Amino acid sequence: MKYLAYRFASRLAQAPPSFLDELFRVSADPSIISFAGGLPSSELIDCEGITRAARSVMEEEACIALQYTTTDGYRPLREYIAKRYRRRLGLASSADEIQIVNGSQQCLDLIAKIFLNAGDHVGMERPGYLGAIDAFSLYEPVIHTAPLDDEGLNLAAIEVLVNKERPKFFYGIPNCQNPSGRTYSQENRKAVAEILKSTDTLFYEDDAFGELFFDAKPRPPVKKYLPEQAVMSGSFSKIIAPGMRIGWVYAPKEIITRFNIVKQAADLHSNFLSQKILHRYLMTNDLDDHIGKITRVYQNKCRIMCDLFDDLLPEVTHTYPEGGMFLLATLPPGISSRQVFNKGVEQKVAVLPGLPFYLDGGGVDTIRLNFSSATEHQIFEGMTRLARVIGGL
Ligand SMILES: Cc1ncc(COP(=O)(O)O)c(C=O)c1O
Repeated sequence: MKYLAYRFASRLAQAPPSFLDELFRVSADPSIISFAGGLPSSELIDCEGITRAARSVMEEEACIALQYTTTDGYRPLREYIAKRYRRRLGLASSADEIQIVNGSQQCLDLIAKIFLNAGDHVGMERPGYLGAIDAFSLYEPVIHTAPLDDEGLNLAAIEVLVNKERPKFFYGIPNCQNPSGRTYSQENRKAVAEILKSTDTLFYEDDAFGELFFDAKPRPPVKKYLPEQAVMSGSFSKIIAPGMRIGWVYAPKEIITRFNIVKQAADLHSNFLSQKILHRYLMTNDLDDHIGKITRVYQNKCRIMCDLFDDLLPEVTHTYPEGGMFLLATLPPGISSRQVFNKGVEQKVAVLPGLPFYLDGGGVDTIRLNFSSATEHQIFEGMTRLARVIGGL
């Protein structure tokens, strides 16, 4: 039998090899305690509240919610998002600057589609969010990185990067970054904005975790200092439910118009039923109260994980997140994350090797741990297993 040689597009060759298959296989084993994934806690999804909202939408306006809708998304939901930006962050946002997307992950594909020609330059943090590396890589850019430390972006590095490479945009996560859990300081945000101001590089501000600060205090976004030069994305995944796949992009109107064009070509619009149910839920529940419940639980889990690291693995250094869902740990000299992953699976605990978050082959001694999805008991047990694994290497 003759096999056809499939002629795939060359852009696929740029996509980094995915570690996710191996990870999903591991995560599917119920005897393994996994800190490797990135799920919010299932117990904190308000299933009853969302069911009530869904029932009332279906009883009252099923025929509308089940129809096609406009590409930009359900206007009352966009108004809700714009109002929340005005109230929480003091931004002069309007619904016309908001486009609903299919989870904020879609924004990463769309921003790349709007701005990148093959060979264009892009900047991002080191380490950087794997989902962004994957999304951007498909558009064949040259990706440059600037190191992220406890204060935020390395200012000297980003200054050289933007002036030398003139990237179309710089992608950053100033709040509780994935994978490091780090947050840019206030001064760092202002300084980043100041550096970008004199260039034509956009700042793409991924704010997937900005609502998840343990102290509930909003941090002013970089966009506050660069209103016309920053694009922000946000998501209901971590604060309501990821399965609804509702996120948004907040950008100057000239850019939103382009988002509209590419979004329409990609999928016409995001799931309208999800948007209606979500909006009904937001109108009938107190989101701040709900977020307060989530952050109290996550703060506790994060503290337990950090304390266990300090007690059981003092030779491992790690970040101390102010919020979010992840921390990054650095292993003692001579121990690689791949060894910890392989031995960990044998001992029934999974962590994510940091390697795929570093585009230059670095990070071999780092591991990312998720503290939101395991129970407190699993965190105790999993960290004990991890200490055995690392102690035995
Ligand atoms: C930094 C960051 N951005 C974007 C996303 C995508 O999330 P969603 O598409 O569910 O909004 C994630 C998911 O974990 C993330 O960690």
